[in-house]
Amino acid sequence: MMNENNEKQNTKNINIHWYPGHMKKTERLIQKNLPLVDVVIELLDARIPSASANPVMALLAGSKPRVILLNKSDLADSASTKEWIAHFAAKSIPAMAVDCKNGTGLKEIIPFVKNAIIKSGRKSGGIMRMMIVGIPNVGKSSFINRLAGGRRTKTEDRPGVTRGKQWVTAANGVEILDMPGVLAPKIEQSGEMLAYTGAVKDTVIDTVELAAKFLELMAEMYPNLLSMRYKLDEISESTGYELLEAAARKRGMLISGGETDLERASIMVLDEFRAGKLGRITLERL
Ligand code: G4P
Repeated sequence: MMNENNEKQNTKNINIHWYPGHMKKTERLIQKNLPLVDVVIELLDARIPSASANPVMALLAGSKPRVILLNKSDLADSASTKEWIAHFAAKSIPAMAVDCKNGTGLKEIIPFVKNAIIKSGRKSGGIMRMMIVGIPNVGKSSFINRLAGGRRTKTEDRPGVTRGKQWVTAANGVEILDMPGVLAPKIEQSGEMLAYTGAVKDTVIDTVELAAKFLELMAEMYPNLLSMRYKLDEISESTGYELLEAAARKRGMLISGGETDLERASIMVLDEFRAGKLGRITLERL
């Protein structure tokens, strides 16, 4: 049975203290290198297109053409992804869905980006130079590796080995500025979203609390997927902690005395969501 304390915890906001100091430095690095490129490619997580965006990206990109790629679209709800693409297009930011894990949408990227540059009136031919930016774990390395194949040189982060920007040649006259374009996400408003997807490491968060919150959100947004995955009924009546307990029971995650192992269950739920096992889910809708 749930006690009153747990129910109260469900409504509390999760406090995430996380702001890597190097990100400000990266923002400066992005600005400094902007004159070298024709276009800025911003990778967003298709499951959380708002939370994974950098609030000052428009300012950072200045007058350079900017293209948004909604990565991890294999894990997101395709109807929501379409809505997000239309939303960005309405703001005159060309956007498309990609999936760097399976390679879906990758062939269309180069023509799409070239078209965006031409439309912006900045350039019509020659080598196209791109800068890739995005929050940690959004898929920047996967994207560059996909486009560049084996042509990417490994940069090593150890003393004596030069680390910093370098150009990577991709096919069809494309060059990618390979530098750590790691942006700070909107952590203050969207910490929970970033934690659900794993953009913010679990080590800085209480996973039981996080999973309970996540289940509450799932119960609201995707009740059918949730009930199918964990064979749960009465989803709408339950708190996040109750849902977590029920999922733990269904999976036989018990500790001595028949109590549920919420710690283990919370890791299971979050891992399964991140791996796409709950289905295709977009946590932010327009
Ligand atoms: P980063 O450079 O922006 O930090 O991200 P990175 O490419 O390292 O990707 C972070 C994780 O996201 C990796 O998983 C990567 O495989 C996964 N990923 C990237 N793009 C996609 C995508 O479009 N769809 C899906 N489903 N996953 C994607 P990992 O678990 O850290 O490593 P691994 O699974 O590749 O071993």
